[in-house]
Amino acid sequence: MAIGVFDSGVGGLSVLKQLIKYLPNEHYIYLGDTARVPYGNKSVSTVQHYSRQATEFFLDNDVKLIVVACNTASALAIESIQKVAKKVPVVEMIKPASTAASKSTKNSRIGVIGTRATINSEAYTKEILKHDAFNNFKVFGIACPLFVPLVEEGMIDNPATMLIANEYLNSLKQSEIDTLVLGCTHYPFLQNLIQDILPNVKLIDTGEYAALEVKKLLESNGNLETNQNYQLDFYLTDTPYTFTDLAEKMLGFKIEKPKKVDLD
Ligand code: DGL
Repeated sequence: MAIGVFDSGVGGLSVLKQLIKYLPNEHYIYLGDTARVPYGNKSVSTVQHYSRQATEFFLDNDVKLIVVACNTASALAIESIQKVAKKVPVVEMIKPASTAASKSTKNSRIGVIGTRATINSEAYTKEILKHDAFNNFKVFGIACPLFVPLVEEGMIDNPATMLIANEYLNSLKQSEIDTLVLGCTHYPFLQNLIQDILPNVKLIDTGEYAALEVKKLLESNGNLETNQNYQLDFYLTDTPYTFTDLAEKMLGFKIEKPKKVDLD
């Protein structure tokens, strides 16, 4: 049985990369809701509606586990997703990354960047503060709404993206954070650029910690695949020109042409 991996667009590919790294024998079904990206500036009820539809798509495909490879859907729609998924386990982005950030910080100053919806929900702040045993943590959340369209356009090493990133991240320099959660799965595409602006800050890639969580879960319920090569199926709700290029850049190998799916 396959693992369903879902994002609004190309962002979930950064999670898929980590999944393949830590669980190299699984069959993955990737769903990118490219017709409706971005989610990050949409209302809670819209993101919940889209997320329920993605979950139904995975149930129709008989998956054994769902990875919500989208921080916005994780922040706004996890309960709606779990309700539809019923007994199928769901792994989201926020809890594993918050645990990792809390363990990583030495000076108790943690930054979180994400979509407007994720930052406004304060899902990260609430989750990180649960680990704050000595009431020391300061969490600085910054919305970076232009990052998603820039990544979807493939403008990764672009001077305009650098300029915008400097504008967004400048206040985090003043905040003297030592740990930054890349709280949107699109942002690992900009990891080098972000690290150049904040050279001494530990970046937390949400996909990495979610992948470790998936591994732990499948090991514990005896569903970890060990005897086959990984297999990938890509489904998109629209077929943007940039998807295959970005996917191959992120994953480091050629992929089969994505299939088109209608979630409505
Ligand atoms: N990649 C997603 C996230 O992690 C969604 C971005 C968007 O569609 O706005 O938040």
